[in-house]
Amino acid sequence: MCDSKKTNASLESQTFFTKWASRSLILLLLIAASAWLDRIKDRWYVFDPAELNVLAQAAITSSPNDTAGMIQHIVTNLTSTYPANHVKINVNASDITEYLSIFGTPLGTEGHTGMHPADDDFNILVGEQWAFSPGQLEMEQYTPDMVHYLPRGAAKQYKMHEGCFALEYARGWIPLMMPFGFVDTFTSTLDFVMLYRTIKVTLREMSRNLFVGKI
Ligand SMILES: *[C@@H]1O[C@H](CO)[C@@H](O)[C@H](O)[C@H]1NC(C)=O
Ligand SMILES: *[C@@H]1O[C@H](CO)[C@@H](O)[C@H](O)[C@H]1NC(C)=O
Ligand SMILES: *[C@@H]1O[C@H](CO)[C@@H](O)[C@H](O)[C@H]1NC(C)=O
Repeated sequence: MCDSKKTNASLESQTFFTKWASRSLILLLLIAASAWLDRIKDRWYVFDPAELNVLAQAAITSSPNDTAGMIQHIVTNLTSTYPANHVKINVNASDITEYLSIFGTPLGTEGHTGMHPADDDFNILVGEQWAFSPGQLEMEQYTPDMVHYLPRGAAKQYKMHEGCFALEYARGWIPLMMPFGFVDTFTSTLDFVMLYRTIKVTLREMSRNLFVGKI
């Protein structure tokens, strides 16, 4: 009787050990896989931040004081430069490792940039964007033709003082940025119609891009 108790206990501690050993192994494999994916993610990038900056400047020059004209210039250029079987560009486009959008408002907005797992190039087209990092006494000021570069993991307070529009290009792990955009629907705006539209368009564009092999 004593013996069988002892065997039971050692059996139990053995299963306990095997369980935790295999869990640790899975965790290690996940970490290794993430690190590997992170190192090779560049191979999926289509756009080049410097080229996009040249394009943003050309758009400003070709349509001064005309936001719609600038956007049209950018869209026409991108759709003719990048064939549809390479990357699906849409006015509402997105895929998993790159994200390109015209971001802006004619009213002005202010907030936290969010801390994202992606590098972000903000090419100002119209208006001004101001920014500030903790510790700074003076604000950073970005005007048309300038790029506000926010490296991955960095965060600032930003303000589009009056109206401002920009060509935004993010590269990195885009799906991990999405909770930032969605969470305030639940805590504040309750605009579920917009949430539904955003998710629908994002998933559609991500799958259209995956379908042509654009990760
Ligand atoms: C797109 O814009 C770039 C930068 O302005 C320019 O060099 C290129 O020729 C344009 N391509 C097309 C197809 O318009
Ligand atoms: C653009 O708008 C600014 C300010 O309203 C004005 O000073 C400038 O002359 C305008 N430029 C063109 C090309 O219309
Ligand atoms: C972009 O989104 C808007 C709003 O949902 C929609 O009306 C428009 O058709 C979309 N554009 C494209 C090209 O899908």
